[in-house]
Amino acid sequence: MTDLLAHLDADRVLAPDRDWWRQAAVYQIYPRSFADANGDGIGDLTGITSRIPYLVELGVDAVWLSPFYPSALADGGYDVDDYRDVDPKLGTLADFDEMIAALHAAGIRLIADIVPNHSSNRHEWFREALASPPGSAARERYIFRDGEGPDGTQPPSDWQSIFGGSAWEPVGDGQFYLHLFAPEQPDLNWANREVRDDFLRTIRFWADRGVDGFRVDVAHGLAKDLTAPLRSHAELEATKLAGDGSHPLWDREELDEIYAEWRAVFDEYDPPRIAVAEAWVAPTRRHRYAAPTSLGQAFNFDLLRANFDAGEFQEIVDRNMVFAAETGSSNTWVFSNHDVVRHATRYGLPDDHTVEYDLGKAWLLSGGVTPEVDVERGLRRARAATLFLLGLPGSAYLYQGEELGVPEVPAIPDAARQDPTFFRNAGVEVGRDGCRVPLPWTANAPSFGFGPTDAAHLPQPDWFASYAVSVQEADPGSTLSMYRRALALRHELQAEEKLAWVTLDGPDVLAYQRPSGWIVVTNFGTAPAELPPPLTDREIVHSSEPAPPTPGVVPPETTIWLR
Ligand code: GLC
Ligand code: CA
Repeated sequence: MTDLLAHLDADRVLAPDRDWWRQAAVYQIYPRSFADANGDGIGDLTGITSRIPYLVELGVDAVWLSPFYPSALADGGYDVDDYRDVDPKLGTLADFDEMIAALHAAGIRLIADIVPNHSSNRHEWFREALASPPGSAARERYIFRDGEGPDGTQPPSDWQSIFGGSAWEPVGDGQFYLHLFAPEQPDLNWANREVRDDFLRTIRFWADRGVDGFRVDVAHGLAKDLTAPLRSHAELEATKLAGDGSHPLWDREELDEIYAEWRAVFDEYDPPRIAVAEAWVAPTRRHRYAAPTSLGQAFNFDLLRANFDAGEFQEIVDRNMVFAAETGSSNTWVFSNHDVVRHATRYGLPDDHTVEYDLGKAWLLSGGVTPEVDVERGLRRARAATLFLLGLPGSAYLYQGEELGVPEVPAIPDAARQDPTFFRNAGVEVGRDGCRVPLPWTANAPSFGFGPTDAAHLPQPDWFASYAVSVQEADPGSTLSMYRRALALRHELQAEEKLAWVTLDGPDVLAYQRPSGWIVVTNFGTAPAELPPPLTDREIVHSSEPAPPTPGVVPPETTIWLR
């Protein structure tokens, strides 16, 4: 450990800053696929610790760690057996303590993923609920209902789970339990005081261990109205589109009260712990999660859902600048995460390929057909989009591997698939495994350096070699070099959370200026764009195209940073 940290820059040590999150670059680690220290094919905490120098060199301010709790992995760790422990497959609490100490020593904060909507079916509470009779206090921690129909064998309603199939699972004694996700993920009952208190305890448990913040899984789902009679699935779908808070399952008013209690706990710490909501709600409904009295920040998936289009990008930025001003929160920008097809691939899809993004629907290489992807174009546009994003006011959430420009891995043999989406939608949805393949670190090594052996829990394709860190590190034009330079420069570019559009000719070019004076110009079109005279005098400090820039011209599908 001492050796590992010896070469880290001492002045990166964390400043006691309560606003550190506002414009942070946050790097999402999907722990099972990041780095494997012991060679069993599963990424682990010691693996993460060993790669801290890489994170430092990348220049991120924080890490968001997807679930690392004990889990049977029915849903990649989002099925939690015990909220206050580490999965033995990933390490121990001691490994966690060592990891967080090393991150902090390197000037990097840690955001832990917390999964409050559902536990796993192996959680001690759920085992107790199954062993207890209908109506018992143990069942009250979850959502149990009697079956319907003359013999009570029908589910309480026709609700569909997000991963496919009925949202109700029979337990054999006439009752069913609700699971909005996989059957291994029974929904907790947030009207129950014991459930609420236990999560406050969990928050304190990790905050006491030094966790700087929380990413709140399915933050819009906790509160539910299950008053009989339950409405039909079709009625619910129609209500969802209304987005007015009247849906019995999503985005309900009672959430404010739940998160106000969390906020009080966050504020017990100095600096206060932060939180970011994963809430797939209409942009106009995000305010309540981002409010300072609630979680304080909420993911904005607008850019993730957008086409590579100047008009769409501008409208989204404008709308979210207003939003940030109204809530007092900062903007959040994201293109990729562990639930969606990587943006390098999305941007290489044929122009007429439409994509549907919603919770549970954010994976698009679906319908049993893999569309033709233009890999080169996808990467070019992803790089341009990324430099557009990294210049914006607010925080940037990056997903492991995007800094390598790694595309989605479309061809995973059925037998190797893990995502419940795949199993519950046979032949229709391939699921999310394609963005969760273990990272390539070294071109000519077993498992491309993911671990010391050739084991990798999802198969890595041969073409991963060309994306390896070892290859890209040596190349100043690589995607990795582009990210590193951008993140290093970002601190100079970032100032007040403001921007002003700079009017340029043509519908395909966007330019904005930050209070630092820096200007970000993106050419979304396929023809080169000429810069007007005042801009041609400026220094081009960064470009998403590896080729040396021609002064006064922005190449097609390219972003440049001007000082
Ligand atoms: C969130 C997670 C996703 C998970 C789901 C259920 O959307 O990001 O990976 O499957 O919640 O926990
Ligand atoms: Ca391992």
